[in-house]
Amino acid sequence: MNVSGKKALVFGGTSGIGLAAARQLAALGANVVAVSRDPSRAGDVPKGITLEKCDVLDRDGLAKLFAAHAPFDILVAAATGGTRAVGKFLDMNIDGYKASFAKLWGYANIIQLGTPHLSEAGTIVLVSGSPARKSKPGQVAISSVGGAVEALARAVAPEIAPKRLNVVAPGTIDTPMSPLKGAEREEAYRKQTAKNLIPRAGTADEVAQGILFVIQNDFVTGTTVDVDGGWLLS
Ligand SMILES: NC(=O)c1ccc[n+]([C@@H]2O[C@H](COP(=O)([O-])OP(=O)(O)OC[C@H]3O[C@@H](n4cnc5c(N)ncnc54)[C@H](OP(=O)(O)O)[C@@H]3O)[C@@H](O)[C@H]2O)c1
Repeated sequence: MNVSGKKALVFGGTSGIGLAAARQLAALGANVVAVSRDPSRAGDVPKGITLEKCDVLDRDGLAKLFAAHAPFDILVAAATGGTRAVGKFLDMNIDGYKASFAKLWGYANIIQLGTPHLSEAGTIVLVSGSPARKSKPGQVAISSVGGAVEALARAVAPEIAPKRLNVVAPGTIDTPMSPLKGAEREEAYRKQTAKNLIPRAGTADEVAQGILFVIQNDFVTGTTVDVDGGWLLS
């Protein structure tokens, strides 16, 4: 797919990985709509990106947004959706565990409500995460959610073909998702990535390159691209 002149909706496109994908798409000439609950957090965005407010858990709001922007060629789902539980499963508050699945429900809403408005050669990208296939201690919730996101993509890709559906799975990425600052932030990323083959946090732009790859390559569907610094082999 030549993305120049194509229309892309990027959910979670106002921060971190989604914002980096929105910027890379716009730089290549795509018309990008970056969506989140509070789009003001995107700050100044370059020409080619417009901002829209919508919660991916609000199906009525999403349906209106899709109808207003249809038809479109590219959907990127990078919205975290809500909170995530951390810790040992047996000690975990079950409501916190269940709430972590807001990301899956948001992605499911985007696929179900967005695909009918996607052009025939259109493409969808979901962002999962390395814990989907290799969970480190405390990551049972994001591991379960990531695994479900990847299974959803493999199950739905055949149903929507020739429209394409792929997943990009990031490892530890330096984005505003982490509230830590300064030395504390550096130390946390150092510890989290020490055993990876590439022992540093990745950048949002490095993940966005993976997103752009599965968008642009018309021979790729139903698969997962890892952008993880070697997490899976750590
Ligand atoms: N950073 C990492 O290390 C890492 C690793 C593996 C996987 N991931 C995954 O990568 C994706 C992007 O993460 P990130 O690091 O870029 O996070 P981020 O910087 O916190 O950005 C998250 C984005 O999602 C939006 N969002 C959250 N809930 C939403 C909702 N209910 N409806 C609409 N928009 C919503 C946020 O905007 P509003 O708050 O304005 O809604 C924001 O634009 C997520 O799926 C995350 O799980 C990240």
